[in-house]
Amino acid sequence: MTPDLMEEGARRATAYGQAAARNRTESGGRAAGFSRPVTPGEVDVAHGRILYLEDVSVSFDGFKAINKLSLDIAPGELRCIIGPNGAGKTTMMDIITGKTRPDAGTVFFGSTIDLLRYKEAEIAQMGIGRKFQKPTVFEHLTVYENLELALKTDKGVKASMFFKPDSAQSDRLAQILRTIHLADSVNRLAGNLSHGQKQWLEIGMLLMQDPKLLLLDEPVAGMTDEETARTAELFLSLKGHHSLMVVEHDMSFIKTISEKVTVLHEGSVLAEGTLEQVQSDERVIEVYLGR
Ligand SMILES: Nc1ncnc2c1ncn2[C@@H]1O[C@H](COP(=O)(O)OP(=O)(O)OP(=O)(O)O)[C@@H](O)[C@H]1O
Ligand SMILES: [Mg+2]
Repeated sequence: MTPDLMEEGARRATAYGQAAARNRTESGGRAAGFSRPVTPGEVDVAHGRILYLEDVSVSFDGFKAINKLSLDIAPGELRCIIGPNGAGKTTMMDIITGKTRPDAGTVFFGSTIDLLRYKEAEIAQMGIGRKFQKPTVFEHLTVYENLELALKTDKGVKASMFFKPDSAQSDRLAQILRTIHLADSVNRLAGNLSHGQKQWLEIGMLLMQDPKLLLLDEPVAGMTDEETARTAELFLSLKGHHSLMVVEHDMSFIKTISEKVTVLHEGSVLAEGTLEQVQSDERVIEVYLGR
């Protein structure tokens, strides 16, 4: 989570209301193209996809960073994305989260939410959480305070001072502390945690918002082998409850967690399948693995 996303979280209630209202009122829009009504906060996965990209392209100064990219993710799936530097992996996440607008293509969350109609903050509130490579926790706050902060929807000073999690939220916080292996460190300052622990804390902060889809960009970069192994366990425990899209260069980590792997190259899908399948694909060996 980034501070700017945290700030955007402050506008959560209002923006979500607006987004939901837009879904209800634009009867001529795509949302109305399907007969199932959209309940605010609900993602329609009846078609077996939580995320759907079709023919997405974006150019930067004439350079096609994403080139007719099509891809979909099933509910509860843990999808690994690999590919050489500059393949467009991070740019794809920028597009899904509304940070970058594509020049062309379709990006849907479930079968009814056209993500290209929403702003970055609204997309975060709909349940797409994003973890950037660098940990961005609040170093001067404790582990507990960081997680508590992730719950707050109104981050005004007064509201923050009087905020107390309700009992369901406290239970959730305790459960997440265990999930991220920080139950013994609740009162430690985040600044004193190891790099790996900071990464887990940030993932915990995202989990506090109960995201339906989590995008994780190089989550184990800079971790020790032990931290990497624990992160693999963590992701495996999240799959099924959340959908995950994990970008990584660490092949032994990918091997531990992967079911289906997508290889990106020059902004589009070069190969897709099990790690074994893509690793034996001549084109993948040539552009990525054989280097
Ligand atoms: N905002 C931008 N302006 C100009 N060029 C950009 C921008 N964002 C990305 N690019 C370019 O688009 C291409 C894809 O970059 P991207 O960061 O998505 O690659 P990546 O697959 O994440 O690579 P890595 O594995 O190194 O993180 C690169 O050539 C990059 O320089
Ligand atoms: Mg990248």
